[in-house]
Amino acid sequence: SYRYALFDMDGVIVDTAKYHYEAWRRLAEGLGFEFTMADNERLKGVSRMRSLEILLEVGNVKNLPSDRLEELCRMKNSWYIDYISKVDKREILKGTVETLTLLRRNGIKIALATASKNSQIILERLELKDLFDAIIDGNLVERPKPDPEVFLKAAEALGGNPDECVVFEDAYAGIEAAKKAGMYAVGIGDNSNLIGADMVIPGLCETDQILQLFN
Ligand code: G6P
Ligand code: MG
Repeated sequence: SYRYALFDMDGVIVDTAKYHYEAWRRLAEGLGFEFTMADNERLKGVSRMRSLEILLEVGNVKNLPSDRLEELCRMKNSWYIDYISKVDKREILKGTVETLTLLRRNGIKIALATASKNSQIILERLELKDLFDAIIDGNLVERPKPDPEVFLKAAEALGGNPDECVVFEDAYAGIEAAKKAGMYAVGIGDNSNLIGADMVIPGLCETDQILQLFN
């Protein structure tokens, strides 16, 4: 049975998508095109640089040199950090603290497994750090989701085998990564975006259903 729980961060434990969107929208505006909330769906779970590439595709902006791409990523991130440095506990998604606390009490080891390079600042603001036995974020992985690296590293950090791990993910790229890693994948959110998930639930507020997986 499952002994390890791996949680994505953005969209699973904290509602940061709106801040990512606001920063990307602002960048697109500066470049002279519109970036809609629907376009933004494609960026969920995707690394910062890959997100920029998708955004530029939407705006039909081509052939920027790599130092300009780096600069645009830095601009986006500095706005994003401005937004998230003001987040507080109210933005923790419902059920997170309860579910993680109960899992721990049942002896389940817990890791954060996120593409974000901003996990430290977010976990500190939200005072969630103590709930995790290991934190693997974008600073520690080379290959972004849908590559399984982040989940494999998280399992290793906890001392577990992939087939003992359950992944909680709101992004299609993350579900793909979890399945490639050989793990059980729980989709968080809407069924239609999460094809391939072993099970889909609206959120971590489904505490009983989640605990049952570990029985
Ligand atoms: C998560 C989010 C993405 C974001 C990525 C990198 O996967 O869902 O929208 O682009 O992390 O985050 P960062 O905070 O490093 O820009
Ligand atoms: Mg996510």
